[in-house]
Amino acid sequence: MRSGFFLFKQIRDYLYRINMKKIRAAITAVGGYLPEDRMTNADLEKIVDTNDEWITSRTGIKERRILKGEGQGSSVIAIEAVKQILEKRNINPDEIDLLICATTTPDYVFPATANVIADKCGLINAFSYDISAACSGFLYSLTTGSQFIETGKYKKVIVVGVDKMSSIINYEDRTTCIIFGDGGGAVLLEPTTEDLGIVDSILKSDGSGRKHLYQKAGGSVKPATVETVQNKEHSVYQEGQTVFKFAVTNMADVAYEIMERNSLGADDVAWLVPHQANKRIIDATRKRMGVSEDKVMVNIHKYGNTTNGTLPLCLWEYENQMKKGDNIILAAFGGGFTWGATYIKWAYDPK
Ligand code: UT7
Repeated sequence: MRSGFFLFKQIRDYLYRINMKKIRAAITAVGGYLPEDRMTNADLEKIVDTNDEWITSRTGIKERRILKGEGQGSSVIAIEAVKQILEKRNINPDEIDLLICATTTPDYVFPATANVIADKCGLINAFSYDISAACSGFLYSLTTGSQFIETGKYKKVIVVGVDKMSSIINYEDRTTCIIFGDGGGAVLLEPTTEDLGIVDSILKSDGSGRKHLYQKAGGSVKPATVETVQNKEHSVYQEGQTVFKFAVTNMADVAYEIMERNSLGADDVAWLVPHQANKRIIDATRKRMGVSEDKVMVNIHKYGNTTNGTLPLCLWEYENQMKKGDNIILAAFGGGFTWGATYIKWAYDPK
C-alpha cells in the first residue's frame, strides 16, 4: 500500500516537472549614468605625447567621461543607474531581493560597493555583494544573478556594471590613459516563463594571463607604500599588443561558439553587444559572427572603455531600438584573463 502510494507520488511529481515551465531570468528594465565632464582627445594631447588621429585610428575613441570631485566613488554612478530603474518601473526599493555589483574600482577594498549602493538606494531587504572579473564582470554577474531568479526563490535582482577608471589611471602613461573612462549601468532581472530572457552563457577565465593586464600594488601581495605610490603602481598596467591578440581571438570565438551552440545564424541575431575596449576588437568579433555593422551596439567613440560599465551602457543607450523576442549576443574580454558571451531573448518592446 505504502509502496503504491510512493510510486503514484513519483509519477505525479514527474508529470508536474515535465509540465512545469522553466523559469528564466529576463531583463525587464535598464538604467545608466555618465558623469558630465568630458575628456576629449584634444585634452589628452595637452597631457601626453599623443594625437587625435592615432587614438581614433587605433581605438575608435574620441572622448570619455570623468567623474570629478572629492569623495566621489564608483557608487555615485551606480546609484543614479539603480534609481532610474526603480523610478522607471515604479518599484519600491524594499522589493529588491539582491544587488550584485561588477566593478574593478570599488569605493573601498571592503566593504563591497554593492553594500554602499544598496544602502543609499534604500534596498533594505536586499543582500548585496561585488563580483571582480575586470571587463567581463558584468557578464559574470548577469549569469550569477540569473541563477538566483531561475531557482524560483528570488523575484527581483539588480545587476550593476560600473567603473571609475580615472581613479586607477596614470595620466602620464599614453598607452593606457587614452583608453579608459568612467560610467556604468544596471539591469533589473525578473522571472519569466515565456520563451524570453537569458537563454545561455559561456564564461571563461585563464589566470595565467594576469601578468599582461593588472594593477601591481594595493592588494595583499604589495600593499601601498610611499614607493608604490611614487612608482605609480596603483594604476592600470597593460601590455596592449598582447592583450589585443588574446581579446581579438577569444571574444570573437566565444561569441561564435554561443551562436553555434544555440543554432543561431547571422540572420537570427538582432544585436551584438560587444565590450567596448577597442573598435578593432569589436569589428573582428562582428566579422567572425558574420553580422552586419548596423546590428552592433557601439558607443566607444563617446565613452571609451568603462570596463564593467560598457555592456549595460550599450543596453541603456539602445533600449529603444530593441524589440521583444530579439536575439541578442553580449560578448566581453578583460583582465584575468576573463571572457565570455551571453545569449538573451529580449523581453520587452520600446516604451
Ligand atoms: O578592456 C580590457 C582589455 N583591453 C583591451 O582589450 C585593450 C587591447 N589593446 C589595445 O586596444 C591596443 O593594443 C592599444 C590601443 C592599447 C594600443 O594599440 P596598438 O595598435 O597595439 O599599438 P602599439 O602598442 O603596438 O603601439 C604602436 C606605436 C608604438 O610606437 P613605436 O614603438 O611603433 O614607435 C607606441 O609607442 O604607437 C605608440 N603609441 C602611441 N602613439 C601615440 C602608444 N600609445 C600611443 C599614443 N599616442 N597614445
